[in-house]
Amino acid sequence: MYTAQDEKRLFQQAKDLLQLQPTTAHIAQLREVINYADQRYYVADEPMLADVEYDQLFAALKKIELEHPELISIDSPTQRVASGISERLPTVAHLVPMLSLDNTYNAEDLRDWGKRCTGLVPDATIEFCVEPKYDGASISLIYENGQLLRAATRGDGISGEEITTNLRQIRSVPLSAPLIKSGVQQIEIRGEVVIHKNVFAELNRQRATDGLAPLANPRNAASGTLRMLDPNEVARRKLSAVLYHISDYTLDTNVSRPIELNTHFDSLQWLYNLGFPTPAKELKIFKDIEDVIQYCIDFEQYRDNLPYEVDGLVIKVNSIAQQEKMGMTAHHPRWAVAYKFKARQATSKLRNVEFQVGRTGAVTPVAKIDPVPIGGVIVSSISLFNEDVVREKDIHIGDTVLVERAGDVIPYIVKPLVELRDGTEQAIIFPTHCPVCNEILDKPTDEAVWRCINIACSAQVVERIMHYCSKDAMDIRGMGESNVNKFYERGFVKTIPELYHIDWATVATLEGFRDKSINNLQSAIEASKTQPLHRLIFGLGIRHVGETTAKNLARSVDHIKDFYNWDEERLMTLDDIGPKVAASVIHFFKTEENRHILEQLEQEGVNLVNLQQDQKQSGGEFSGKTFLFTGTLPTLKRSEAEAIAEAKGASILGGVSSKLNYLVVGEDAGSKLEKAKKLGSVTILSEAEFLTMMS
Ligand code: IVH
Repeated sequence: MYTAQDEKRLFQQAKDLLQLQPTTAHIAQLREVINYADQRYYVADEPMLADVEYDQLFAALKKIELEHPELISIDSPTQRVASGISERLPTVAHLVPMLSLDNTYNAEDLRDWGKRCTGLVPDATIEFCVEPKYDGASISLIYENGQLLRAATRGDGISGEEITTNLRQIRSVPLSAPLIKSGVQQIEIRGEVVIHKNVFAELNRQRATDGLAPLANPRNAASGTLRMLDPNEVARRKLSAVLYHISDYTLDTNVSRPIELNTHFDSLQWLYNLGFPTPAKELKIFKDIEDVIQYCIDFEQYRDNLPYEVDGLVIKVNSIAQQEKMGMTAHHPRWAVAYKFKARQATSKLRNVEFQVGRTGAVTPVAKIDPVPIGGVIVSSISLFNEDVVREKDIHIGDTVLVERAGDVIPYIVKPLVELRDGTEQAIIFPTHCPVCNEILDKPTDEAVWRCINIACSAQVVERIMHYCSKDAMDIRGMGESNVNKFYERGFVKTIPELYHIDWATVATLEGFRDKSINNLQSAIEASKTQPLHRLIFGLGIRHVGETTAKNLARSVDHIKDFYNWDEERLMTLDDIGPKVAASVIHFFKTEENRHILEQLEQEGVNLVNLQQDQKQSGGEFSGKTFLFTGTLPTLKRSEAEAIAEAKGASILGGVSSKLNYLVVGEDAGSKLEKAKKLGSVTILSEAEFLTMMS
């Protein structure tokens, strides 16, 4: 086991080694760092080094050992049987080597590949079958007598790691299938394991709540998960599989009419009909390579609309007889090629770091880089989150930085390219005062962010007005960032209540404001006056008060000003409210400026009353009862299920606590279910049981 101190030392050791050209004197250090990096990568699933860095250190060690074979030791990391294979999982040989694909990047490359294909089967017409190139971790599955016998990772292509138990956790992979009916005795199927983008986002949200570092992208998350030792954790991570190639099969000759697979298209269709997750519905067939090219170009635009990550398309010759004729090189089949989309990583120069002030006064460092296109979007600003991130990644102004933007993942700096430094780079200095209002900044001991504590700070005011108008708060359409900024700068709206007496005649003199847009804005603002109380409470932007807490607060009073007389103890009797939230709510309603805002809103005619209260108390069959939903419910969306419970007077909690009465669990319910079971006081329901209860 490594202690935190060991980790720090080894991290520093790695950075130092990367700076120099290691010699025989560094051999022990190199081995130690590489072994530790392996452990972090394969065992802890939290890489310490970027791939290029690891490769650089590994190459340095290999070079020294090549020059000094007498120094090779049996336990040197270079002496593993095959690279990329962890020792934790047993290694198994693939029936057929898992080849890679040749890449093309543009129309010209594809056209050349098409010509080469024609050259290999000169007298035939070729049909091309096109499908997505899934960006995940490749797998190979063997079914024998209809049963899933073995699953393996790609490993080095010849053999991989055995991951059968983990693969069995993926719901879309059948554990058995009626293959034998078609006379198939044994079959090896290739595919990819991916994590859908929304699942990935949720996974990182959960990791953030648990204080864990976010996973970099869905691909790493998928491949790391596949190699975990705890199958329950694998199940929780909700992986998906796509199977796209039959690499080998044997037929039972006793069967009267064994299956005949003549095309790739038919193979995937056949598997699909047997219950395998193949891209059967995604396949496109073309006869002319020019049509393939056009399809590839067009498809790239849709890349972000897919629920999973793709890094290109794969074009395969459809006829299996033709595939066999064309054969393969040592590296890739000649009958298939990848068309790679634009890279989602790029390097750029970090020119400056600006500090932005958010609604709650949090000051966030934002890197300004030379604009660089990544995956079709120009990236020039990247959040660095907080001071710790900047220090950990050792980012300097003037650094060349590696930037990644994977699909819906917001762009982030992977790391600075330390080897490109020329000594002119400058440390990033964190401000001691607010960059907007110059108030001294404060950093609470248990937080990672610096905050401006001046609630009148104009940056915070603008953000607060924007939040008040946002969709989930008072839903004032048209009052987004641009208009709020414009109105604030011109002095029309300096506070939230001023939204309700904008001088529209002056607005009409501004460029871009016609009668229609002014009318729309006016009616959206007017309509917000009758929004239910919980939206107002959420819109006021009280720290730690999200939508669910706002609903719980609204439900417990007749009028918002009732909170003036509440104390923390009373607040903590409400669902879902602990000491931190209670202190924040009390502080908000005690602050004179906030009370003044509420007075003004009342005068403007904004609803401050809980209109739903009576109805809730008398009619709600489940009033006083608390619910929480976890996992994927079979038929209802989470929000629908919550609405059903709320309509019956129940309240929704944000987490499992002693205040929880019912936990409704769907598929892949995780830690919440375990916690509830431990508490023992919570009734656990399926969706069906819940619906029966509600009807
Ligand atoms: S076919 C012999 N089809 O991309 C057949 N591969 O960069 C070879 N991949 O190693 C594979 N989507 O892991 C094929 N629709 C697809 C694919 C696909 C993703 C992966 C696969 C391969 C890698 C090559």
